[in-house]
Amino acid sequence: MRKGEKGILGGIVAFVLIVMVVKAVIISNETEPDPGIPFYTTSTPEFAAKASVLYRKYDCRDCHSLWGLRNIMQAVPAPSLDGMGSLRDEQWLYDYFSAENPQSIIPSRLKPRFRMPSFADIPEKDRKALAKYVASLKVEDWYLEETKKTAFEKLTGEEYTQ
Ligand code: HEC
Repeated sequence: MRKGEKGILGGIVAFVLIVMVVKAVIISNETEPDPGIPFYTTSTPEFAAKASVLYRKYDCRDCHSLWGLRNIMQAVPAPSLDGMGSLRDEQWLYDYFSAENPQSIIPSRLKPRFRMPSFADIPEKDRKALAKYVASLKVEDWYLEETKKTAFEKLTGEEYTQ
């Protein structure tokens, strides 16, 4: 190999190495860590276990999904309760569950049998526990807008434009 050729070869090798290093740096900046599941509860495991009994007892899961799960036999397009505690507070939830006519608070676009039922007639302590539990179902800030959008579109059937 002549001197000039060595120089060229060296230049090519150096160029390839620089490209590889730059690429590696770009890739390592692009791959953020997996942000994980955005939904969580602030309830203690003991309270969550108690509330889950009520959640099943009053058939909430026939229409709503929670922790990404729903009763597969149901096809009601009710909003998911994941993250609901970041959209509504405990007092609002208690009043909603206590309303004789929940559709006076949130109008429904569904057939009557699919609408949110009134829980005005169940024991007050159960309504309180359900409100407290649903209020504890939070969503991380980075997924809040997405959660609002999904809930809005479920309730109205319209596109969310905020
Ligand atoms: C028959 C189906 C059905 C059952 C059972 C049901 N829901 Fe609903 N729920 C709905 C629907 C549908 C809506 C949306 C409003 C409407 O269309 O009436 C709703 C709305 C809600 C909302 C407000 C959602 C929002 O976006 O603000 C909460 C909270 C809620 N339900 C909690 C519960 C809880 C807790 C239970 C059990 C105690 C329950 N639901 C039982 C159908 C149901």
